[in-house]
Amino acid sequence: MGAPVLRKKSRELSPAEITSPETKRLIQDMFETLEDYEGIGLAAPQVFESIAFAIVHYPQNEEPKLIFNPRISILDETLQGYWEGCLSIPELRGFVERPRKVKIDYLDESAKPRSITVEGFPATVFQHELDHLFGILYVDRIKTSPGATLLSFTEEYARYHLDGDEDAESLDD
Ligand code: NI
Repeated sequence: MGAPVLRKKSRELSPAEITSPETKRLIQDMFETLEDYEGIGLAAPQVFESIAFAIVHYPQNEEPKLIFNPRISILDETLQGYWEGCLSIPELRGFVERPRKVKIDYLDESAKPRSITVEGFPATVFQHELDHLFGILYVDRIKTSPGATLLSFTEEYARYHLDGDEDAESLDD
């Protein structure tokens, strides 16, 4: 956090760029980074590439989704809250409320149009990840209310907030 690339709207890729050897190399690199950090998602701006590409690997028993040029539509505006973490903001967790169901239209790694609908915790994961492509970090979405403790160091999160956080293994991307 603090690197300007994380605050820029990233550039969409043409189908030829998506299937290019450069992009294949980037995909490979990002998978390695994701594994190193044991994350569940990673967006290109997090590795200093300002392009509209993200990997989401959640649930982890399913194939990872490679998402280019996404458009998000909210299908259910009801808010749900989870404690989120981010590889670009180490050692912190923040409680963020987001719509509980969204649809994402995107191009896959073959530049083929696809659509996915997600709800519950995966909806939060996808929204967090795709926010990165628009220069938004989860800390921007924490509601500030007097007296609330919605941003916490990982250690204090484990001590004071972990109880009752069902998806505690959760959101490090
Ligand atoms: Ni993140």
